[in-house]
Amino acid sequence: MGAGEVSICARVKGQEGALLQVQGLGKRYGARIGCADVSFDLWPGEVLGIVGESGSGKSTLLSCLAGHLRPDAGRVMFRTDQGMRDTVAMAEPERRRLARTDWAFVHQHARDGLRMGVSAGGNVGERLMAVGARNYGAIRGAALDWLQRVEIAADRIDDRPSAFSGGMQQRLQIARNLVTGPRLVFMDEPTGGLDVSVQARLLDLLRGLVREMGLSVIIVTHDLAVVRLLADRLMVMKSGRVVEQGLTDQVLDDPQHGYTQLLVSSVLQV
Ligand SMILES: Nc1ncnc2c1ncn2[C@@H]1O[C@H](COP(=O)(O)OP(=O)(O)OP(=O)(O)O)[C@@H](O)[C@H]1O
Ligand SMILES: [Mg+2]
Repeated sequence: MGAGEVSICARVKGQEGALLQVQGLGKRYGARIGCADVSFDLWPGEVLGIVGESGSGKSTLLSCLAGHLRPDAGRVMFRTDQGMRDTVAMAEPERRRLARTDWAFVHQHARDGLRMGVSAGGNVGERLMAVGARNYGAIRGAALDWLQRVEIAADRIDDRPSAFSGGMQQRLQIARNLVTGPRLVFMDEPTGGLDVSVQARLLDLLRGLVREMGLSVIIVTHDLAVVRLLADRLMVMKSGRVVEQGLTDQVLDDPQHGYTQLLVSSVLQV
């Protein structure tokens, strides 16, 4: 089954509708455009890839979606138990609660997403505690299970991430983010800055977890191989705007916009 078919299945299986609806999102830094007029829907179980050259607005967009940056324009409607809610207009404490319970954010640099002074098990366990878990044995058991799922040996549970390799740190960051079963996962260049062989292993692992957990993901990357492997759908950004979007295979195999054609033929340095 291709990546695209997974999301179609999720939709056909009677999911209630879009998980996220983004309308006219924009962010400026003074006179400079971070992103502008971005609109799209994300369906449950769908992986959306965002690609574009450096400075095209990928991280700005992701930060606005995840509530790390306040957009100047537009709405980000997220499906909650109370129906679709605009997370931009939401009070800060409520948005923080959503970020803790429903969302996860995997940073490019593991140190931004881990607590380096806390053990590997603690890094995973404290996320469970943040959503209400209190039983020490159950928390440690879940942490151990997740370390194994991301291929970190059980006897490293009490080691700090600073003693881990870059690839291990990134796998630990993924465990910390996925242990609570988030409904929406944001990833900003999760394989960036790693050696090619380490990237391949991480990508394999991510692909397995995405499929197994049916995760809804928005992933930013400059690496078309990453989106080819992971993303059902692709959005191409240039100068803060979306210039093309569609099913990943369609966009990569038959790009319509001149800029996407350059990206795909690797003429642009991304
Ligand atoms: N904190 C900031 N202050 C001022 N301008 C910013 C800031 N962050 C981003 N920008 C500008 O906004 C635009 C989009 O930047 P952004 O970091 O979102 O791009 P990107 O696609 O993530 O790039 P990269 O691939 O290099 O990470 C660029 O012109 C950038 O210079
Ligand atoms: Mg970026």
